[in-house]
Amino acid sequence: MEADRIIITQASLEDADFIIKFGTETFQDAYGHAHSKEDMNAYLLSAFNKEKTLDELCDNNIVYLIASIEGKPIAYSKLSTSKAHRSLKECSSIELERIYVAKEMTGKKIGSTLMKKSLDIARERNYKTLWLAVWEFNPLAVAFYERFGFKSFGSDIFTLGKTKRNLILMKKELKVNILNLTQNFFHCLHQLPITTANY
Ligand SMILES: CC(C)(COP(=O)(O)OP(=O)(O)OC[C@H]1O[C@@H](n2cnc3c(N)ncnc32)[C@H](O)[C@@H]1OP(=O)(O)O)[C@@H](O)C(=O)NCCC(=O)NCCS
Repeated sequence: MEADRIIITQASLEDADFIIKFGTETFQDAYGHAHSKEDMNAYLLSAFNKEKTLDELCDNNIVYLIASIEGKPIAYSKLSTSKAHRSLKECSSIELERIYVAKEMTGKKIGSTLMKKSLDIARERNYKTLWLAVWEFNPLAVAFYERFGFKSFGSDIFTLGKTKRNLILMKKELKVNILNLTQNFFHCLHQLPITTANY
């Protein structure tokens, strides 16, 4: 089974070209039919350009995960804490901004493997909520998220050129990993400034 052979790694600067090419292709495959060529090209250039991607790869608030089989990348996900959605009450949240599997590989549990790893990363970093926005006319993706326990918490609008798209906002509460909390606590203690003041 393909999913058993997947290797998932956190992307580095060397993966920028793959992220740009694959991100462009998969976004085009998923939404190209719903937008004019001009609107789509303008969006793709702004979302998947080299400067932005390199910046993101150096940004501690963003994690790109790449899934490969025998050295060939076939899927990726992007987690980001850059923006918290205004409808979310929780402050400790992380967004699953993108999850894409190569068209010819969908339905083979590769997305599920990548989702599990994305959830692990969110838990390891002690976020309480993983949230995402999905196009209302993407029922397969909505079903996929529901299977992982995501629940709708509102809606939003995404504007791409002349088209406005309704998005369903979904979130999943994450169980806090006590071990990580303890480790983080000691790590923070270790980093406290040493004071020489006498009391
Ligand atoms: C959504 C996506 C990440 C799921 O990954 P996947 O590897 O295809 O999904 P899995 O094989 O792990 O799981 C399959 C389940 O996902 C759902 N699914 C979503 N898209 C699917 C697709 N194109 N083909 C088959 N199943 C799909 C089905 O509900 C299926 O459920 P089932 O196993 O009970 O039949 C992937 O299909 C994809 O990249 N789609 C195109 C881009 C997209 O829509 N991304 C999400 C943007 S918000």
